[in-house]
Amino acid sequence: MLLGLFVLSATSDDEEEWKRREAIAANLKPFGKLCLIGEECGTVIAFDPNRIRRGTGLSAKGVYDAYCFACHDEGVADAPLVASEAWDPRVAQGYDVLLQHTKDGFGEQMPPMGNCLDCTDKELEAAIRYLITGEEETETEDESEEESEEES
Ligand code: HEC
Repeated sequence: MLLGLFVLSATSDDEEEWKRREAIAANLKPFGKLCLIGEECGTVIAFDPNRIRRGTGLSAKGVYDAYCFACHDEGVADAPLVASEAWDPRVAQGYDVLLQHTKDGFGEQMPPMGNCLDCTDKELEAAIRYLITGEEETETEDESEEESEEES
């Protein structure tokens, strides 16, 4: 009897979860197909955080133009616009948090990896900086770990 009840409630939860996913999928339709983990996706590969990312070789603006642009250019679902004040409170969280939110996805509408599944952390970070400043940065001053590889 208990077991029966449990199964029943699990089923209605599933149904709600399914409806929620359908709603998200409908919202994302204009931007192409995005699959949630555990969902049947046909030929499209579902996002897997452990997936090996090859990198896109794109510049910050290149990544933006190819991926982030879809929502952040017009503020779809209140996505913060490039170089807008909407970034101020978000930047206050720190860049690490912004990168993590970008990788995991954020809120109802910000997809994991901003849909750039092959972006490396560095590429995402550069794209985030572009979103915030509207400028293509060549160097970052606060993170100088991997600087000066040049030999003359
Ligand atoms: C499908 C639409 C969509 C795409 C594509 C998209 N974003 Fe977003 N993004 C959003 C929305 C909507 C929000 C605001 C979410 C909220 O605050 O609930 C957001 C918020 C963010 C935030 C702020 C997170 C925080 O902690 O406040 C960052 C950073 C971000 N996006 C980076 C990116 C990057 C980088 C890309 C491209 C690689 C990208 N986004 C692509 C919709 C999108």
